[in-house]
Amino acid sequence: MTKIPHLIDINDFTSDQWCSIISLAHEIMSAPMVYAGACRGKIMGTLFYEPSTRTQMSFQTAMLRLGGGISGFDNPSNSSVAKGENLKDTTKIVSGYSDILVMRHPLEGSSKAAALTADCPVINAGDGGHMHPTQTLTDLLTLREEKGTLSGLTVGFCGDLKNGRTVHSLLKALSCFDGNKFILVSTKELKVPEYIKDYITAAGKEYVEYLTLEEALPHLDVLYMTRIQRERFGSPEEYDRQKNVYCLDAAKMKLAPADMIVLHPLPRVDEIAVEVDDDRRAAYFKQANYGMYVRMALILCMIDYGFESKPLLKGTVMNDVCCTNPKCITHTEKYLPHSFIKTGSVLVCDYCDERISL
Ligand code: NCD
Repeated sequence: MTKIPHLIDINDFTSDQWCSIISLAHEIMSAPMVYAGACRGKIMGTLFYEPSTRTQMSFQTAMLRLGGGISGFDNPSNSSVAKGENLKDTTKIVSGYSDILVMRHPLEGSSKAAALTADCPVINAGDGGHMHPTQTLTDLLTLREEKGTLSGLTVGFCGDLKNGRTVHSLLKALSCFDGNKFILVSTKELKVPEYIKDYITAAGKEYVEYLTLEEALPHLDVLYMTRIQRERFGSPEEYDRQKNVYCLDAAKMKLAPADMIVLHPLPRVDEIAVEVDDDRRAAYFKQANYGMYVRMALILCMIDYGFESKPLLKGTVMNDVCCTNPKCITHTEKYLPHSFIKTGSVLVCDYCDERISL
């Protein structure tokens, strides 16, 4: 595989590279002991500025199963971040201690910002409501194992499609395979952002938007459920208006094809009734398990190629322009160059993909 300096967005890899990673994950699953010492002597740094169970622990156990070590924090209030240390300094230091760095942060564009100063490869384990490429690799492996293909699928996405970073990354990835179609089920407030819809269209794929699961279910090969992302809402009232709108239960599962599978990046709140766990089409617990193997494969592909920093910002630095996304990392990390890609009459923020009309 060609050298991959960082994994910030799923499209930092080509679709052939995703396929090599999931094939390697498949091999690791069938013979894990072959890889048991593959990362002996290597250290993975983990900077988790936001809560995580699966992503953090699957990365950690992946590295431990490869024979490597781990170091990091899962709560920034126990680190020098609580003393006011900026992201640049934390990244610079911890990347010097590590061979690979995994980071999750509540602000959009934070992983790219961290990668600008890191001295080792950085993996984005979720940057606010923006992207989550390693969940996407998990989802692709799950589809390959459970459906046998990544193409020709009608995939339904339901829930918080606006703030769900796993949805954004997976839609980008599945748009790159032939014959996929998307049914997007959400309230009008929580629709998929325009930049993702444009991506789907530019890739020549079709999507429709529905308000109810009942309309979508009979047509699906895969249903990707998501929770309403409470922590991304401006007020508890806004969240209260959105929660409990969608709940997949045994009665609704009767509307779905016999070979449809149900995925969910987890954690589940109440959007899938516990009774669905017993339906053989429920694949979300298997999906979480695949996550560890795909992260083993990813670490192997990224750690052994030596590190060479490459220019990360694709746009033009315009420090007099400010990103209009209040959740963009450029607002808190003031030293960051404001970089924008000009497309027609729109400036696209290099960190968070926000579009600013000129
Ligand atoms: C997701 C995330 O963090 O975006 N969880 C995960 O990584 N498996 C989904 C979520 O939190 O809803």
